[in-house]
Amino acid sequence: MTLLTYLRRKLGLTGTKLGCAEGGCGACTVMISKFHPHLKCIVHHAVNACLAPVCSLHHCAVITVDGIGTVASRLHPVQERIAKAHGSQCGFCTPGMVMSMYTLLRNNPEPSMVDIEEAFQGNLCRCTGYRPILEGYKTFAKVLDFGLWYCALMYDPSKFIPLDPTQEVIFPPELLNLGKQPPRQMKFKGERVLWIQPSTLTELLDLKSHYPESKLVVGNTEVGIEMKFKNLLYPVILAPAYISELNSTIFPSNTGIVFGAACTLTLLGEVLRDAVAKLPTYQTEVFKAILEQLRWFAGKQIRNVAVCLEQTIIKYCYRKTALKPEEILLSIEIPYTKKGQYFSAFKQSPRQEDDIAIVTCGMNVVFKEGSNIVEKILLSFGGMAPTTVIPKTTCKKLIGSAWNEKLLEDACASLAEEMVLPPSAPGGMVPYRRTLTLSLFFKFYLTVKHYLAVDLQHEVPHEGNKNVISEDFVGRPIMHLSALKQATGEAVYCDDIPCYENELHLALITSTKAHAHILSIDTGEAMTVPGVVAFVFAKDIPGSNITGPAFYDESVTCVGHIVGAVVADTQAHAQRAAKVVKITYDELKPIISIQDAIDSQSFYQPVRTMKKGDTAQGFKDSDHILEGEIHIGGQEHFYLETNCTVAVPKGEDGEMELFVSTQTASKTQALVAKALGVPANRIVCRVKRMGGGFGGKESRSIILSTVVAVAAMKRPVRCMLDRDEDMLVTGGRHPFLGRYKVGYMTSGKIIALDVTFYANAGNSKDLSFSIVERALFHMENSYNIPHVCGTGYMCKTNLPSNTAFRGFGGPQGMMVAESWMSDVALACGIPSYEVRRMNLYNEGDLTPFNQRLEQFTIGKCWEECLDISNYMKRQGAVEEFNRQHRWTKRGLSIIPTKFGISFTSVFLNQAGALVHIYTDGSVLLTHGGTEMGQGLHTKMVQVASRALGIPCSKIFISETSTNTVANTSPTAASASSDLNGMAVYNACQTLLQRLEPYKVKNPKGSWEDWVNAAYFDRVNLSANGFYNNSGRAFNYFSYGVSCSEVEIDCLTGRQKTLHTTIVMDVGKSLNPAIDIGQVEGAFMQGLGLFTLEELHYSPQGSLLTRGPGMYKIPAFGDIPVELQVSLLRDSPNDKAIFSSKVLGEPPLFMAASVFYAIKDAITAARSESGLSGPFRLDSPATSERIRNACEDRFTKLCPPAEPGTYTPWAVRV
Ligand SMILES: Cc1cc2nc3c(=O)[nH]c(=O)nc-3n(C[C@H](O)[C@H](O)[C@H](O)COP(=O)(O)OP(=O)(O)OC[C@H]3O[C@@H](n4cnc5c(N)ncnc54)[C@H](O)[C@@H]3O)c2cc1C
Ligand code: FES
Ligand code: FES
Repeated sequence: MTLLTYLRRKLGLTGTKLGCAEGGCGACTVMISKFHPHLKCIVHHAVNACLAPVCSLHHCAVITVDGIGTVASRLHPVQERIAKAHGSQCGFCTPGMVMSMYTLLRNNPEPSMVDIEEAFQGNLCRCTGYRPILEGYKTFAKVLDFGLWYCALMYDPSKFIPLDPTQEVIFPPELLNLGKQPPRQMKFKGERVLWIQPSTLTELLDLKSHYPESKLVVGNTEVGIEMKFKNLLYPVILAPAYISELNSTIFPSNTGIVFGAACTLTLLGEVLRDAVAKLPTYQTEVFKAILEQLRWFAGKQIRNVAVCLEQTIIKYCYRKTALKPEEILLSIEIPYTKKGQYFSAFKQSPRQEDDIAIVTCGMNVVFKEGSNIVEKILLSFGGMAPTTVIPKTTCKKLIGSAWNEKLLEDACASLAEEMVLPPSAPGGMVPYRRTLTLSLFFKFYLTVKHYLAVDLQHEVPHEGNKNVISEDFVGRPIMHLSALKQATGEAVYCDDIPCYENELHLALITSTKAHAHILSIDTGEAMTVPGVVAFVFAKDIPGSNITGPAFYDESVTCVGHIVGAVVADTQAHAQRAAKVVKITYDELKPIISIQDAIDSQSFYQPVRTMKKGDTAQGFKDSDHILEGEIHIGGQEHFYLETNCTVAVPKGEDGEMELFVSTQTASKTQALVAKALGVPANRIVCRVKRMGGGFGGKESRSIILSTVVAVAAMKRPVRCMLDRDEDMLVTGGRHPFLGRYKVGYMTSGKIIALDVTFYANAGNSKDLSFSIVERALFHMENSYNIPHVCGTGYMCKTNLPSNTAFRGFGGPQGMMVAESWMSDVALACGIPSYEVRRMNLYNEGDLTPFNQRLEQFTIGKCWEECLDISNYMKRQGAVEEFNRQHRWTKRGLSIIPTKFGISFTSVFLNQAGALVHIYTDGSVLLTHGGTEMGQGLHTKMVQVASRALGIPCSKIFISETSTNTVANTSPTAASASSDLNGMAVYNACQTLLQRLEPYKVKNPKGSWEDWVNAAYFDRVNLSANGFYNNSGRAFNYFSYGVSCSEVEIDCLTGRQKTLHTTIVMDVGKSLNPAIDIGQVEGAFMQGLGLFTLEELHYSPQGSLLTRGPGMYKIPAFGDIPVELQVSLLRDSPNDKAIFSSKVLGEPPLFMAASVFYAIKDAITAARSESGLSGPFRLDSPATSERIRNACEDRFTKLCPPAEPGTYTPWAVRV
């Protein structure tokens, strides 16, 4: 059992969250303290509770977020500061952030900025964009070099509770005494596993020979993953934690430093750092290279427990070792280097922090004394085969050569021949991986050349994140109302609801085939799993099964299609049983990609078109015509809280209460009622809060809720999907292919556009029509094109149904627009910002759907963005930089956004609210929107507070529920604060009118006096409110402009965003802190979409990227080095509550400025190879795409295989 399960299920300590169960998100971070018998001191480590076996914690103290402070008693400073710095939105990551920081401060109460950034390498947040978390926590730093930030902060750091290390919980003395005693062998016997902790090396060796197939486990970060996700079982586990020979270091030995085989990576780092400080530089070349690599190895929580030797064993031959079953590894020696020896290590991964390498290498060269003649050279590459590869022929060839251009040529030619990969190699990216071996060697070549010339001086100072933020603010930056509870772990999410006494856990049985008829389902073996209570299949649905493609057991239309479910006493038992249900299939040919759908004309109907003007005439009138394509990849929502439902039958009249993590309570109610065959009035759906939604819980959450409800007709049933199940089953953002034809004048003015969108909708229509329609609504972005024709197709494929995702098709539509805009600029040879500016709309212009643009502020945003970002000066500096650097290039871009606000399905533009005033004057507010971190409840309380004229503290929102406000629209389309805000206002107005006579009668009275007087006068103190809006295509538009500057490494494709300025029109902000949080959070999500996040599907339609280990969302290290967010002044909006504008979705597209800055930098790189004019760059601009687009002599040596001649590892969908 993991520590996390023990905390949450056995102890009921639910502050620690489950985000991934694979050590990749940090939501489960806790602090573990122990007396280290070999170091002879108490050590504190942040660890992932989801991987730590409870058995490994003997003699350890565990501190969780629940234990360091509560709202009612005393907040710990780390809890207070993240909350007050607005570093918590949905709050699901917050306890993990708190514990990472808490542990750092326990070890070092005055950390440096670098320490703080490093502490968060293993923590992910999907909402905030990270900046406010870092900003709040940097107030603990020893040296505050960001004093200027304070003027722009929306809180007062001087009022923070000071940190007092003397007040911390002490390490329990009894554990200290126990830890000092000689260890005894320990044994723990579980249902399937025997865990033995021997006390001496002899005991360990005896046990290993007695149980040759046993596994040694130190950090459990490899074995734990294998047991959880790969279904492997190791019945005997040996834990060498007590054995001194395996846990100590010998330093210094004559030849190097010897590390015991169970030393952790953190200890390795500490010892090597110490050695680098003390020994002559030439001796520590290998140490420095390892230290550099350690920075990018996993996160702090993993490094604190993971054993360093495991790398040696694994990387020697992946999961197969040179050891015999009864042998163990005792120690490893990391050697000193000598004069004339140079060593470098490189790692290229999709994301720099906490990511597995695409290609990694170590390179060692020894020169003949006093010369540049190679005496020995050893290159070794990871990521080019299942085992580490040493290109022996190349190494041999280079011996005796001088370190010069000729050696480089020979090495590259030879590596290109020797480092081959089959085109269908697992992991894909074949040409990129091959090119990387050359590029990385080239880097080594340059580094050594430099060393040879300037005598070993090579230390790159750590830059840190120099984020600055300045923003204007109107309104009050009130902290998210749940922020403090989120920071203490007291905020209750769906799965934190205590278990009912007779509750069961549900696991889904899903299809492993993309398209097939089911021939048989055999539950025989699954029945034998302990604790299994029942199986549920389509025949068990009492009502209608037409609630989308869920729960269907005749044929399946995607991998992950829900075939049935199993309920058992625990989640582990249910999942184990689900995995052994045997399904036989009669497979049919699947349609996976957009291209497959086009080839077989597999589209949902209708095909949507939108037209303005006469495109045929427009093309005739144009000087030039250009055609092009861009593919925009999909995106996983990666809300930190996965989908969860707890269904509780009420025992009479078919009543059922559901606690759900959903954006759409009413739809859940309706479809559950339909599945159960009862009227909707028997079903109550309750939503307290979500740990993020982003559209992913708008319709897709219902497939889980209906299954859980069907299983719960007799007993309460709970299911919180594991991350891999959630990613497999629920779908994400639609991948899009945009094909365009543009007519333009030599001046850059665009005359005509014909664009076709193909969206990969997956195996059901879900919301795809509205998503494609919104893409068409945004096909011209912010540009006035006289003649436009757009067509949108929904491709019917055998992927899990794609669905709503922040932006809802808008970002894809605008991304295609910016692609043709970039092509036109490149074709005309005019700077792209000029072409964009000349084509921008003006006040009063008509959109292609004939909506007049009123209060049009893009021009103002544009000028302000140019000004704040210092665009012209920056442009000059970029050009100068690019003239001086061959292998590093910079790029700059400025991009506008115009985003329509409203549901495009007109009937959804309605909202309700219910307000009760109690006799003590407190107000209970309910409205139709759900809280998923976006601060909706906080804003609604602000609206009610202003409307009723009472402080926010008197108003409370408990939850969203279908029995208080009925027939609610999903919380989506960025429209929730507009719609619900008006409904709340409407209800408050009704109550105010009822209270008016008592105010008039007693003008000096208090709120409580008026309420009481009205009550005794038998006045109704409850009111509901309602609002609907005009029904135009969009109620209004949100506008913004962003400018970004990036730097790319042309050899590896790595990119860094150096600067971003965002100017956003939010009308008169209701809450600037929340609004800025939305801007930054959406921007970072967009950054992920356009530069990093890639879903890989096998050619058979199976999702290969099912967790944070494989699917990379932006981390702390991806924040732009400088980030400036500014809210446009003086732009009230007369179409929404208190002149505000909503902005949940619009800022996402601001990240396109990073993509097009990358494209600008690639353009500069290509010009070095004599290439110019438009070129295709698909989204996301990953390091692979960037490298491949920077064509040069190395890429020419590694051409891609001919399409159609091989089966690729992954296909683009
Ligand atoms: C979130 C996350 C991020 C990661 N990031 C990276 C990364 O950036 N780069 C990377 O390379 N890897 C990464 N990994 C994988 C990582 O290498 C391993 O997880 C870690 O080093 C294993 O150490 P452990 O002590 O936790 O292993 P365990 O799970 O405890 O065991 C590992 C294996 O080594 C064997 N073993 C251990 N000690 C001995 C011994 N003395 N003699 C013989 N066999 C022994 C065990 O039997 C077992 O098979 C990551 C893993 C996770 C979960
Ligand atoms: S839940 Fe443990 S790291 Fe994600
Ligand atoms: S606040 Fe960090 S994931 Fe939501």
